[in-house]
Amino acid sequence: MQKQTDIEKALLRKYPEQVVLVTTRNKEGKNNVMAVGWVAMASSEPVMFVLGIDEQACTYQNIIETKEFVVSFPSEKMAKETLFAGSVHGYNRDKIKEAGLKVQNAEIVNAPILVDAVANFECRLVEITKPGDCPLIVGEVVAAWENSNKKLKRLYTVGKEHKLAPVRVIKK
Ligand SMILES: Cc1cc2nc3c(=O)[nH]c(=O)nc-3n(C[C@H](O)[C@H](O)[C@H](O)COP(=O)(O)O)c2cc1C
Repeated sequence: MQKQTDIEKALLRKYPEQVVLVTTRNKEGKNNVMAVGWVAMASSEPVMFVLGIDEQACTYQNIIETKEFVVSFPSEKMAKETLFAGSVHGYNRDKIKEAGLKVQNAEIVNAPILVDAVANFECRLVEITKPGDCPLIVGEVVAAWENSNKKLKRLYTVGKEHKLAPVRVIKK
């Protein structure tokens, strides 16, 4: 049975929600990382992601500048780092270093990949559109990486106020 309710209330039922880390490197060579929950596939051939990223984010400014970024799936062991990446701006600090995130150079794009993530997708900016109040960044995947540990699980947002946790499959 369905009961009509406020949009805000119904939206509280959306969890679990994906969370990704988006890394960028500005023209001066400074790396940054941010947490993004508004993410989806936007194309399968070629593979594209769409990310909702606020204009105030350092990441947004870096993407405008370089047109490149990496979409990284944080593992269940990266909740603290993901929360940190999503709670302060990277304009005047080195969040990757402060969070202790291990990085290595990507193959094609000029942004770092996260060594301990479940997977990393190097992206080139395709377009930015703004149908509502949040810019949507569409990026084409040009190279991909996966963690050699196949059992490593992704981290999700499982409740409001950025409650992060793994999602388990319940066996019947
Ligand atoms: C779990 C989580 C999900 C988030 N999702 C988004 C999002 O989808 N879009 C967005 O603009 N900000 C989102 N944020 C907030 C940004 O990560 C935050 O503003 C960050 O400080 C921006 O970093 P930057 O300025 O260094 O790029 C999220 C934060 C957390 C903790």
